[in-house]
Amino acid sequence: MCSTSGCGTGGTTRLAACRARNGHVTGIDLSAPMLDEARRATRAAGLDNIAFEHADAQTRAFPPGGFDAAISRNGVMFFSDPVAAFANVRRALRPRGRLAFSCPQRPEDCEWYVVPVAALLGIPPVGRSVVDAYPGPAPAMFSLADPAHVTALLTRAGFTDVSIDSVEIAQHFGHTVDEAAEAFLGSGPTRYIVEQDAELTYREAHARLTAALGPYATPGGVLLPARYWLVSTENPEVSRDGV
Ligand SMILES: C[S@@+](CC[C@H](N)C(=O)[O-])C[C@H]1O[C@@H](n2cnc3c(N)ncnc32)[C@H](O)[C@@H]1O
Repeated sequence: MCSTSGCGTGGTTRLAACRARNGHVTGIDLSAPMLDEARRATRAAGLDNIAFEHADAQTRAFPPGGFDAAISRNGVMFFSDPVAAFANVRRALRPRGRLAFSCPQRPEDCEWYVVPVAALLGIPPVGRSVVDAYPGPAPAMFSLADPAHVTALLTRAGFTDVSIDSVEIAQHFGHTVDEAAEAFLGSGPTRYIVEQDAELTYREAHARLTAALGPYATPGGVLLPARYWLVSTENPEVSRDGV
């Protein structure tokens, strides 16, 4: 049994289900529209060992010890109380069951963040200065960017044996520059900038993004360098009281 927290449209849930044909995978997400798409894609893939649940991974009362593993691709940075959330996920794991997840590294080290944000703000794409110029509160997607902080949170949640490795990829944001610009305008910090700036029209924002993303267009789509942490940790054989 495996659970995927913040499964979105279920890409990694289906990968886990393919790897564990004799097992069962539960995908959990807060977004009903994403789960609808996840169910549709899962039916199309002919997979019958997956269930999707509309639930909050921080508070959902999972069957204690009911899962062998829990995974999440970039779905665990948004918890309002990360220690409570990770402890909740841990209690759902059997003793020695593992949690593995990915999360973005520091924003200044993520070209996929620096380049479009700089383009919308009209400043050079220079890491730290772009981060400092961001007009809102620090985006929650970077809340787990500090490995020492992640280790402390997981330890307080009762996990042991934390390992954190760096993963660098060329991340796909669209088949064309136009598609990638629309993806950036539709979500996250880039959408926030456009919403906050009354002077910046959608058309102008789109033009700035297509210009900035042009150099990243390849025959395989628009690919931007991205750095993630791959975190793996274990629910101990004997858990501490009170966590
Ligand atoms: C960046 S998306 C990643 C989606 C998916 N894992 C993927 O890789 O495509 C983050 C997802 O986490 C979900 N999410 C955020 N907080 C959550 C929570 N407390 N419980 C369940 N899902 C959550 C969001 O609805 C969103 O679908």
